[in-house]
Amino acid sequence: KTIISKIDVNNINVEELKKQAELLKEGKTVIFPTETVYGLGANALDENAVKKIYEAKGRPSDNPLIVHIYDREEVRDLAKDISNKAEIVMDKFWPGPITIILNKKDIVPNTTSGGLDTVAIRMPSHKIARELIKQSGLPIAAPSANISGRPSPTKGNHVKEEMDGRVSGIVLGGNCDFGLESTVLDLTGEVPMILRPGSITKEDLEEVLGEVLVDPSLLKKEDNKKAKAPGMKYTHYSPDADVYIVSGNDKDVINKINQIIRENSENGIKSGVMCVEKNKEVYEGEVISLGNTLEEVGSNLFDVLREMDKRNVDIVYSESFEMTGVGQAIMNRLLKSAGYKVIKA
Ligand code: TXA
Ligand code: MG
Repeated sequence: KTIISKIDVNNINVEELKKQAELLKEGKTVIFPTETVYGLGANALDENAVKKIYEAKGRPSDNPLIVHIYDREEVRDLAKDISNKAEIVMDKFWPGPITIILNKKDIVPNTTSGGLDTVAIRMPSHKIARELIKQSGLPIAAPSANISGRPSPTKGNHVKEEMDGRVSGIVLGGNCDFGLESTVLDLTGEVPMILRPGSITKEDLEEVLGEVLVDPSLLKKEDNKKAKAPGMKYTHYSPDADVYIVSGNDKDVINKINQIIRENSENGIKSGVMCVEKNKEVYEGEVISLGNTLEEVGSNLFDVLREMDKRNVDIVYSESFEMTGVGQAIMNRLLKSAGYKVIKA
């Protein structure tokens, strides 16, 4: 049976969290909130514990995990060849929503690194995540706490509905602020490369690092199989409903979506629309607003995808977003959840 602890982020009950930390020390799995999405954690240095993560998620075992740490010094236990640029990223953005890839030391089991010679490390800023990791005294491997292929969980009810009974513990701690998984930055090469876009953007990184590359395979379907972060190859972020992105200028998009919705309803197909707040009233069908700003859209995206399933829609049409700043991360997740199906309005 899963032990569930409800924790108030503004008034953390440390005694309660210690129970969950105890489970981690015993080699068991615990789900906890972070500032990006909920994570499904276990002792990163214990192969048997890490295997339980893959089982609970139904995740392919060649997909490496991110190791979450409490203290920056732990990086030196896990990784080698730590470059000056890596130090800069840690200085500037940790604790926070960015993961760095470094060459791993032998202490990190292959189960955690998915058989790679590198390790992904992140120091989260969420207060509950930090306290839990601190109390466990361990580096905690944690992928997003969803069943493999589903949208990542950003609210307590997402994990309760999907993962109760599949893990030893769940820490419920409210909503995740950013709502999109961390930026993954490979620092093993000459020039840093973004393997997964996130809330910390290419622009943010270039300000402190100079040139930063983006894995060219990220935004195109044909290249997707070549993605450098193994996780980016798989189908992902998919609700049960089929998702399409509709792109073009505002007016054309609105007309196109409404036209398709009418055709669908004549054929008994229930349509959903994901749009910015200001367009909420102009669509027919089940409309859910993603918010006003790109930040809000990022924060709400996975919740809205899950909500579409609850409303039993068959097909979801989403407006498209500009590829600047957080827009890169939003479009990356949207394109994947749509299986790269884009309708030009
Ligand atoms: O925000 C996040 O990063 C969340 C929270 C829980 O921290 N975690 C998360 O983990 O999103 P996950 O496992 O769902 O995604 C990790 C991504 C995958 O695409 C994986 O392939 C990539 O990071 N990755 C992990 N280790 C890697 C490595 N050594 N080299 C390249 N890519 C790696
Ligand atoms: Mg994930």
